[in-house]
Amino acid sequence: MKTEEVKAVLSRFPQTAISLLPTPLHRLENVSRMLKASVFCKRDDMTGFVFGGNKTRKLDFLIAEALEKGYDTLITMGALQSNFCRMAAGAAVTRGMEAHLILGGSKPDKFTGNLLVDQFLGANIHTIDTMDWDKWGEYASEIETRLTSQGKKVCFLPVGGSVPTGVLGYIAGFLEIMEDCQRLGIEFSRIFFADGSLGTHAGLLIGSALCGWSGEIVGISVAKGSKEARVEIADLCQQTFEKLELTVDLPPIIVDDGYIGESYGCPTEAGKEAIQIFCKADGVFLDEVYSGKAAAGLIDYCRSSRIPADENVLFLHTGGNIELFA
Ligand SMILES: Cc1ncc(COP(=O)(O)O)c(C=O)c1O
Repeated sequence: MKTEEVKAVLSRFPQTAISLLPTPLHRLENVSRMLKASVFCKRDDMTGFVFGGNKTRKLDFLIAEALEKGYDTLITMGALQSNFCRMAAGAAVTRGMEAHLILGGSKPDKFTGNLLVDQFLGANIHTIDTMDWDKWGEYASEIETRLTSQGKKVCFLPVGGSVPTGVLGYIAGFLEIMEDCQRLGIEFSRIFFADGSLGTHAGLLIGSALCGWSGEIVGISVAKGSKEARVEIADLCQQTFEKLELTVDLPPIIVDDGYIGESYGCPTEAGKEAIQIFCKADGVFLDEVYSGKAAAGLIDYCRSSRIPADENVLFLHTGGNIELFA
């Protein structure tokens, strides 16, 4: 399909357009020189809404659907420093909805980073001192029942907004990258980015399959093992095809889980080095939880010559750098 035809498919679904799209795409001149590679960066850290990040594109569709269904209250959940919760709170309150965040972890005396932004936005913050996602879900249900009994129409969004409606955001994101390529007269062999709840990956993959793109979508996992992640991505793509009422063969699903380190959220030396390289060489700030680990993967691929020097590769910066101030 041509990008215009894929756009027409997406236009059947409502969007709020909360972000300042398109985001910039530019070459990282000094990083490229250091790595003897040709590295470009798609700046989805600069979506221009509530400090930016990949979640803006998902929320463009998620909040529009919630409003269309007449919801007036949003509940979502994540860790204390969740980027998604920060942006979901922003999307909700700026569209006249009440925002409730279930945040896992012990409530600090002083709010910093994402939590501080949640507070600025006037989100209702409910902390629960566990990292058990099931417990967050149970607490969210309790709050949902309470709010419903008060007459509120409550929309619940799962962790990371990785449901078919959210996936649409990165089908649109992929189309934007194709338009960037056309405008700049370049082609990429691979797109690298951080894999968390996997909605970004599913969207890019569907976008690439619909457009018949021949490059590779390479998710660097920051949380899940490769096998588990690939099964989940395939499942999410299937659900999204049902929503779109179309289907195409997917290219191989590539998830590299070699850069997670000890666990999700636990900083790695390679991630810290990537943060240093990107900020000192080209003034681009990454974070220790997501984009730093993804860049560590990209750097390692370049250094070990898994990416030929004459190929252009794209690093999709998914944001999260507000975590540096947590
Ligand atoms: C900054 C950042 N990058 C990447 C991701 C991963 O995106 P996804 O959850 O769609 O896999 C997240 C998810 O929380 C994130 O906050």
